[in-house]
Amino acid sequence: MSQFNSNPTAYDKLRARLSVESHTWLVTGVAGFIGSNLLETLLKLNQRVVGLDNFATGHWRNLAEVQTLVTPEQWKNFHFVEGDIRNLDDCHRAMAFPHADASPSEGGASVEYVLHEAALGSVPRSLADPATTNAVNISGFLNMLVASRDAGVKSFTYAASSSTYGDHPALPKVEHTIGKPLSPYAVTKYVNELYADVFARCYGFNTIGLRYFNVFGPRQNPNGAYAAVIPKWTASLMQGEPVYINGDGETSRDFCFIANVVQANLLAALANETDALNQVYNVALGDRTSLNELYAHLRNKLLPHYPHLDGVQPVHRDFRAGDVRHSLADIGKAQRLLGYAPSHRISEGLALAVPWYMAQEKPSQRSMALS
Ligand SMILES: NC(=O)c1ccc[n+]([C@@H]2O[C@H](COP(=O)([O-])OP(=O)(O)OC[C@H]3O[C@@H](n4cnc5c(N)ncnc54)[C@H](O)[C@@H]3O)[C@@H](O)[C@H]2O)c1
Repeated sequence: MSQFNSNPTAYDKLRARLSVESHTWLVTGVAGFIGSNLLETLLKLNQRVVGLDNFATGHWRNLAEVQTLVTPEQWKNFHFVEGDIRNLDDCHRAMAFPHADASPSEGGASVEYVLHEAALGSVPRSLADPATTNAVNISGFLNMLVASRDAGVKSFTYAASSSTYGDHPALPKVEHTIGKPLSPYAVTKYVNELYADVFARCYGFNTIGLRYFNVFGPRQNPNGAYAAVIPKWTASLMQGEPVYINGDGETSRDFCFIANVVQANLLAALANETDALNQVYNVALGDRTSLNELYAHLRNKLLPHYPHLDGVQPVHRDFRAGDVRHSLADIGKAQRLLGYAPSHRISEGLALAVPWYMAQEKPSQRSMALS
């Protein structure tokens, strides 16, 4: 049930339907942040899931954690394929769940719904290595479209990105008004939309692109040069390290909790109204939070557990080149055509994400931070 409304939402109805209907899904990038959360939800709904990943940025530990959160029977409904989307054979290999009543052609149950998350994220990564980002995010995407077409899947839902709005200044962002891409990563995500549209037109194929805006939640990686702001700051605060804010902190983003993204994926995959298909949608909360507000939220949530944060202030440094000042989504299209109704606002999402990061922290690191 939605936390904002006592009437059953489209998502409530969809979950009720899935609890009595079992389907076969393919989640690419399943060992990553968003993919592993999709896996968890689908298995809890007793769905069969094939997962494809090459561990470029994903981790076994994400799959291992999902295993602890579902029943042994539900875990048996997961089949993992280690493979690379740049290799078309690997994409074809992922198109059946083996031995699920051994059909069709004794290969197993064919994948019906594809949730394509595998990609190399991060704008700075794409600036450092545009060729690899291009190969994974464009050639790999095309391979997944081809394999999905060949397998005759019912729908292909894919991770698009708010970066497609590029240099267009309008706020809030509305799907049909985009600017020029500002990074190689943004080019790849826009090309995905063009390819999906062409496949829809040329092969009678159902595709839906979800333009995610700053997703956060459990299992988002806090480590490495390309970590996102919420996990990075949470880790820095817990470890007693400085938090750097680029600019005056009034830069704002539409932070979206992972549960809302999972909801959008399932609604998109099962959408069947003609108007809703072969479209792109903003997936966000539809509300913006400044970096200063985000810092205050995180510090307040951690302070009762980390007394060293009392009186701690962020360090402001120069604006980062290429960063857009504000990002805010209009989510009206997803609300209207998919029945999307975000269940978690930022503080509700942080109330679930921050304890998860605290639980991951090694006791030795924690005692160092407190000493
Ligand atoms: N997290 C966000 O805020 C955000 C925002 C906009 C768009 N997206 C998109 O959402 C999707 C998922 O992002 P995420 O945050 O979960 O990132 P993630 O890095 O945690 O997950 C991506 C997964 O894809 C896998 N992968 C990468 N290259 C692969 C390849 N060649 N073959 C097979 N698997 C491969 C990685 O190993 C990883 O498990 C990506 O397409 C990303 O561009 C994310």
